[in-house]
Amino acid sequence: MIGRLNHVAIVVPDLAAAANTYANTLGAQVSEPLELPDHGVTTVFVELPNTKIELLHPLGEGSPIGKFLEKNPSGGMHHVCYEVEDILAARDRLLEEGARILGDGEPKTGAHGKPVLFLHPKDFCGTLVEIEQV
Ligand code: CO
Repeated sequence: MIGRLNHVAIVVPDLAAAANTYANTLGAQVSEPLELPDHGVTTVFVELPNTKIELLHPLGEGSPIGKFLEKNPSGGMHHVCYEVEDILAARDRLLEEGARILGDGEPKTGAHGKPVLFLHPKDFCGTLVEIEQV
């Protein structure tokens, strides 16, 4: 069912420093910071030949990644995102398999303007999983 790895998201305490690490130490192509107020994050996209890394930093009050950064002050991997062709079909299959969908179970528009859902980490090897319809 799942297709390509769309991105790995990493929460960072200092976005400029993280962008610099990826651009200069690792020699990757990085974007300018992009504020996504609806999602409570500022993000820098790292373009790799086969996928993306998204560096995330909290934006505004009540950011969904604020608590994560409190618990992981030096940052850390936040989620992986797999592509699916049909998010509603994917959701129904996951529910049938006993997996838990976070939130109300209805897809939301994600950071790339496409429908996404998040799956409970306890059902997926301790990793928060995002699925995105592409
Ligand atoms: Co994501």
